[in-house]
Amino acid sequence: MQNVAMKSDPRSFQEEHGIIGSSVEMQKIIEVVEQVAPTDITVLISGESGVGKEIIAKAIHNASQRSHIPLITVNSGAIPEGIIESELFGHERGSFTGASEKRKGYFELVDGGTIFLDEIGEIPLSSQVKFLRVLENGEFLRVGSSIPRKVDVRVIAATNKDLESEVRHGRFRADLFFRLRSVNITIPPLRNRPDDIPLFFQKFVDDFFEKKDVKFAGISEEAMQFLKSYHWPGNVRELRNVVESMLILESGKYIHTEDVRKYLKEYKPASDGRNLPVPISKSVEEAERELILRALLDIKVNILELRNQLAQGAHVIQGSDMLKKELMYFQDNVEEPVMSLQEMERKMIVEALGRSKGNRRVAARALNISERTLYRKIKEYSLG
Ligand SMILES: Nc1ncnc2c1ncn2[C@@H]1O[C@H](COP(=O)(O)OP(=O)(O)OP(=O)(O)O)[C@@H](O)[C@H]1O
Ligand SMILES: [Mg+2]
Repeated sequence: MQNVAMKSDPRSFQEEHGIIGSSVEMQKIIEVVEQVAPTDITVLISGESGVGKEIIAKAIHNASQRSHIPLITVNSGAIPEGIIESELFGHERGSFTGASEKRKGYFELVDGGTIFLDEIGEIPLSSQVKFLRVLENGEFLRVGSSIPRKVDVRVIAATNKDLESEVRHGRFRADLFFRLRSVNITIPPLRNRPDDIPLFFQKFVDDFFEKKDVKFAGISEEAMQFLKSYHWPGNVRELRNVVESMLILESGKYIHTEDVRKYLKEYKPASDGRNLPVPISKSVEEAERELILRALLDIKVNILELRNQLAQGAHVIQGSDMLKKELMYFQDNVEEPVMSLQEMERKMIVEALGRSKGNRRVAARALNISERTLYRKIKEYSLG
């Protein structure tokens, strides 16, 4: 079903699919959507919650030649891990407890159409390889069957996770990630396209007016600026909810900034440091201090682990009663050490100095800090 993309006027495409947005970012997205829609290419849509991933997925499907078959939306995050494969690929009778009848999965049901796999990052690792296979060549096995079946299904996937980081952490297969992102549409958060806000506002007023007969007397320029400056953690969905609440509760009132403020949970400006570069140049002292604290925390974790292992050992050790008793005593009486980080730091320094027989250079090296910092600490803790 591969097709040559035919471009039309982006505005009419937007209107047809009810997609709002005149910002450069949205215009670029619409262009890509129009180009990929008529093809069979797998599309990955990423972006924060509420940015409009689903509306874009629907537009791609509706503008494709598969639009005569209704789009199936599967929310991978909402399906229990144990049945996700059976939901996607179906199962044979008796393939697992409760499988009293054979059943087709979504891929078979929607043969010839499109599946929208939402929250793709939630697909368990163990099922990802099977999903990759169906993406690569349309082949899959029903759970409990060894007969490969073939379908012709286009996949549109969405995620609000950073899949690249999921791959780095071993939670998402790299091969699947590369296969999925052949076309990746990233929808920017609303705070990064404030110029779309007045358009959304107008659209939600119109939509609501159609549904419920509410009165709207207008909004001040300043109030609109205020909306444009907000950070919108819930993105377009949050904006729609705010507009609807305002229309109901401020019915017939001309809306000012103070009216708007009431409906924003916690006002934070869009540029509240989130777009500023992260300061990476800590002072040497700060960096060193952090190193010490981290080492101390590691030690603390090790002590706790050791304690747990010893406590578990008390149940399995077949040795002398004396040893068992000692371990039980340890389990019951040795509490997690309650010590402030400063106290721990002081203790570490005393210990390092003791071991190095007062040689500060050796102690500093053992603590992985500079001699200068060690001198300062010795003074700070009156150890000199
Ligand atoms: N560009 C847009 N034009 C018109 N409506 C939009 C647009 N973007 C988002 N919306 C509306 O905002 C709401 C949230 O959008 P949508 O459900 O597509 O977000 P999402 O990214 O899929 O969110 P989630 O990650 O929480 O599933 C919907 O009501 C949708 O219609
Ligand atoms: Mg969604």
